[in-house]
Amino acid sequence: MQRTDSPEAVPTEFTASAVKAASPPEEQLYADFLRCGEPYKSMYANNPWLIPPKGGETLQWGDGQYWDTTVARKHPYWKKFPLPQLTKDIRQMRKDLFDWGYCLIEEGMSKTQYMNIKQRILEQAEGERLAGIEQLTPSGQYVNTLINKGSFFGLCIEQHPDAVQAGPLIEQLIDETLGKGWICHSFLSNGADPGGYPQGLHMDQGPLLPWITTEAPALVNTMYILEDVNEINGGTLVIPGSHRILAAAGSGGTVGELPPTINLEAPGGTIMVFDGRLLHGTGANRSDQRRFVATMSNVKAWMRTQENWVLSVRSEVLESASPKLLHRIGLQALVYGATVEGFGLGARGRIGDPWGAIKAFRSAYDRGEYKRVGELSPNSSTQELQANYTVRQVMQAARDAASLR
Ligand SMILES: [Fe+2]
Repeated sequence: MQRTDSPEAVPTEFTASAVKAASPPEEQLYADFLRCGEPYKSMYANNPWLIPPKGGETLQWGDGQYWDTTVARKHPYWKKFPLPQLTKDIRQMRKDLFDWGYCLIEEGMSKTQYMNIKQRILEQAEGERLAGIEQLTPSGQYVNTLINKGSFFGLCIEQHPDAVQAGPLIEQLIDETLGKGWICHSFLSNGADPGGYPQGLHMDQGPLLPWITTEAPALVNTMYILEDVNEINGGTLVIPGSHRILAAAGSGGTVGELPPTINLEAPGGTIMVFDGRLLHGTGANRSDQRRFVATMSNVKAWMRTQENWVLSVRSEVLESASPKLLHRIGLQALVYGATVEGFGLGARGRIGDPWGAIKAFRSAYDRGEYKRVGELSPNSSTQELQANYTVRQVMQAARDAASLR
C-alpha cells in the first residue's frame, strides 16, 4: 500500500504487515539471549535424569531419576559433605545460605505455633475440597492466600514472634539478603499427596530468566515445615549448592553435569530459608499420609508479587492489618511500585509513611466509593472539576497525617 497525502494516512512502515515483514526472528533485538532457554536447555541436555515425569506416566524408581533419592546423611555422594544442619546460630545460617543456598532454622516455630498452622491448613484443605474449590496440582492440593484463612498467617507474614518464634532472626537474614524494604511475594501451603508427582526442579526466581543475579538472589523463600519430612513423605528435593553453579553460569549461560538431588530431612517446626536461585521442587510422597508445608517467598518492594494482595486480601484482614503487614503485602507505595493515580510517586516505601499508604483506595473501592479521575479539560463542568475524587481525599489525608508528625 502506498502512502497518500491524506493527513489521516498511516505511514506504510507502521502497518502490522510491514512491521511483521521487517521483523524476521534473526533480526530481532536480543533474540539469541531472550530465547536461549538457558539454563534449562543445557541442564536437561547434560542431565537427562532431571527431566520431569509426563502427566499420566507411572513414576519410575531405581533408574536414578531426580525424585528417586534419599536424605543427605544416607546419600552415597552427599554424606561426605558438610551440608546444612539444624541450627539456631545465625552465623552458621549465613554460611549455609551462602555456601549451599539454604539453611535450616531449628525450632523456627514452637510446637504450638506449627501445630496450630498445620491443623488450620488441614481443616482448610478439607473445607475447600468440600466446597469444590480445591486447587489440585500433580503433587497435591494447594491452599492459597493463607492471609485470609487464619489470624496467625498475617503475623507470620510480619515475622511476628507470636506466630513464628524465629521471626526477628528471619527478618535480619532477609534484610541482609534482599536489602531492607522487601515485601512478601506470596504465602501458600503446598501439599504432597500420596502417589503425587514430584515437581520439576526449578528456581523460584525463574521468571527473571535468562537473567541470573550473580551476586545475590532477587527472591528468598521461607518454608514452614509443619511435620517431620524425609525421603518417604515427599521431603523437598534440593540440589545443594546449585545456586552457585547457576550464578557461575551467569545470564544466558549453560550448565554442565549437576550433582545429585537430596530429599530434605527436618522435623516439624523447622524453617528452611532458601535462595531464589536454588534448584528445588516438591518430592514424591510415598507414604499414605498427606504432607503439607507452607511457603512464603519474599522479593524486592518494586517487583510484581505472585499474590495480587491489593485485590485478594479480605476487607476484615485489611482493616485490622498493622502498618508493617500493609507494607509487607505491598500496600505501601514507593516511587517504583504500587502507585495509585500518581499517589506514592516520590514516597520511599517506608512502613507507615502517609505519602505511600494506598489502603484508603482499596477501602473506598470496598465501600463502592472509589472515584477515579477520568477525562478532564477546561470545558469540564464545575461538578466534574470539584468531584470528590478518591485521590483528592487520600492526598488530603496524607497532608493531615504529615502535619501531625
Ligand atoms: Fe519453588
